[in-house]
Formats: sequence, C-alpha cells, structure tokens
Amino acid sequence: MARVILGVGAGIAAYKACELLRRLREAGHRVRVIPTPDALRFVGAPTWEALSGEPVATGVWTDVDEVPHVRLGQGADLIIVAPATADLLARAAAGMAPDLLTNTLLTARCPVVFAPAMHTEMWEHPATRANVETLRSRGVTVVDPAVGRLTGKDSGAGRLPEPATLYEIADQALSSGTDLRSSLASRRVLISAGGTREELDPVRFLGNWSTGRQGYAFARAAAARGAEVTLVAANVELPDPPGVKVVPVVSAREMHAAMLAEAVSADVIVMTAAVADYRPVTRSEEKIKKDAGPLDPIELTENPDILAGLSARRASDGPDGQVIVGFAAETDTDPGAAKAKLARKGCDFLVVNEVGNGLGFGAVDNEAVVLGSDGSRVPIPRGSKDELADAVLGLAAARIN
Ligand code: C5P
Repeated sequence: MARVILGVGAGIAAYKACELLRRLREAGHRVRVIPTPDALRFVGAPTWEALSGEPVATGVWTDVDEVPHVRLGQGADLIIVAPATADLLARAAAGMAPDLLTNTLLTARCPVVFAPAMHTEMWEHPATRANVETLRSRGVTVVDPAVGRLTGKDSGAGRLPEPATLYEIADQALSSGTDLRSSLASRRVLISAGGTREELDPVRFLGNWSTGRQGYAFARAAAARGAEVTLVAANVELPDPPGVKVVPVVSAREMHAAMLAEAVSADVIVMTAAVADYRPVTRSEEKIKKDAGPLDPIELTENPDILAGLSARRASDGPDGQVIVGFAAETDTDPGAAKAKLARKGCDFLVVNEVGNGLGFGAVDNEAVVLGSDGSRVPIPRGSKDELADAVLGLAAARIN
C-alpha cells in the first residue's frame, strides 16, 4: 500500500482521472485527491471524496492545525497530476504555490509525474515547452500527451493518455522508487574534471584555475542516479567520490587518450574539464635556467579538442543514443557566441556559465543556461555545483530514456 496523491488540474480530462483513482484504489493504495480550485468546476468534491474515501480540500486554509500543505507532500510516495494544464505546469516550473496542490508539489520529495492535457497550440507554445524542460531537468516525469481528438472538433497532440496507461506509469514510478525518466540506473557516465597541465620543464607548466569541483559534483550526482561512473581527473586535489572509478591524468593529450578509451561504452559524457588549448612544442628535460641567457619565446602547438572529437566520433563508435554535454565558461554572455560554440563542438547540450562576478572557477555556487542541440534553452538558477550537476543530468537522462 502506497500513499498516492492525485493532483487534478482544471481541464475537461479531469473526468478520466476518476477512472485512474478507481484503479489506484483497487490496487490497494491510499489516494488523497487534491484538485486545484478550478478543477472542481469539471468534477466536484463529492465525486473525489466518495471514490477516494478521503477528504478533499483545494486551499491551504482548511484544517490548518494539521499543516496539510507540508504534511501531505512529505508523506507521499508518489504524486501524479492528471490532467496537468499549461497553467499548472507553469506554476510548478516557477515554484509558485497559490493553492494546496502547488504547495504539496513543493514539499514532496517522492517521484512526481505530470500528465498534461491541453490544446495542441498550448502544448507546443514555447512557454509550455520551456516549462516542461525545466520540470524534466529537475527529475520530474512529464508524460507526452496522446495524439487524437481534443475537446471540440479538432484533433492533435494534447489528449490525456487513457487511465490504464496512466495507471501503468504510476505503478512503474512507485515500484522503481524513482522517476523513470530521470534515472541513470545501469547507465555508464563518463566525466572529465579539473584542469590540464602542459609541462615546460620538470618544475613548470602552463595551467588554469580549475579545481575540478564541478566535475566531482557530476560524478556524485550521476552515482546517486544509479549510474556506473568514470571520472577522468586532471590535477584535482579532492577526495575520490565513493563508488566512482577515477582515472588520473595530467596533460590534455593524456586526457584525450583516457576519454577516447572510455567513451566507447559511455551512455552520457560530460566534459567539465578546463583543457589547455595549446601546449609547448618542446618540454625541456632540465629545469630552464634564468642565467642561461635570454629565454627563447615559448613556441606553442594546438591540443586536440577532446569534446569536438568525441562528438564527431560517436556517430561511428558510440553506443546508440549517447548524450554528450560540454561546458562553456564565458566572461561575456553573448548568446550568439554560445550557440555557435554548441554547433562547433557538435554536442547535445552546452552548459554556458559565466565566470567572474564571484561565479565559476573555485566558486561554491554556479549559475548557468543549458543550450540544447534541439534549440532548447533551460536556465538553471544560481545554486550549488551539486544542484547544477543534478539538473543537467536530469536533462541528459530525459534525452536517453
Ligand atoms: O572552446 P572552449 O574551451 O570554450 O570549450 C569548452 C568545452 O570544450 C569544455 O566542455 C571543455 O571541456 C572542452 N574542451 C575540450 N578540448 C579542448 C578544449 C576544450 O574538450 N582542447
């Protein structure tokens, strides 16, 4: 017996949620229905109360002594919202909480499934697309609506899937204990981290300020989603994340070789490392001495672009559906430059984060925009590197699942 919350949005398809409720109850689950206030215009509270055997409230001002807006979400094993309107998706994506259902969504830590139903134009609107992407990036399951007859004479994408299908989705989310779309269980995730060092002599190198923290956050987040994780780490002074295979490297060429070897079987590749674009043509065997006369200019040669190389090679060697994520640390935020970089690197997602202003290398917090090769643009609000990593992995998981 699980504790399920059935959220009901104000859509005509609310009548189908009655059948979903009946199925959940027949399976032995305890179901609390939380409609939005306007959803009661379609199906009234007596129907939900009779079918669920539980009281129905829509606002936060009923039974205040029991603090329902916190207690219901905290105690739930699953929340399924069917139908989810465009407005409800927008509120959930923005974290707004004007009623009991949206409050409950904010306090819940269990799997959350949204089953949207609306007119095709609304489903395809860029605002709705962005809200769906945002929710998915947080590990929420947003079921694609079915295609078929809509409310009036028109038809298209936007129908609520049949109750039997919704029941199956709810059942799977409950039995896996985690959201299916966001899981990386039994997936291989390969991450590069740190900053490469290009040696000039036995004691000097050309390097950068990368600490590896963002890459290590990705390794932890991927492991938490059930993935088998390999971390190719360049000059990082952080403890190995538990359960993660760490491959230490120093230079860009070593990182290149390690990444190529591991990439063949990776489902997701995340290139967070700061890779030196150039290396000295020669490395002096002896320490370069100051008194040996004027120093010759250091001649540099270009390093391979590992990310672009991996993206180019996956067509022939990568597993089907391999997802590649690159990073772009920019001191300016010109959107055109970032889009051009996404195309040049050939990856699926480019995480564009601003360095400077207390953000970026070495900073504890990070803030970014994730550009997708499909034209999507998901802003990730300022938060910890762990939160950023988890949000980006949510997008990658949604792409492969
Ligand atoms: O071109 P830029 O250095 O800004 O690109 C950053 C992205 O490309 C990062 O994901 C970084 O790990 C990757 N990169 C690479 N090989 C290089 C340079 C950068 O894989 N030689």
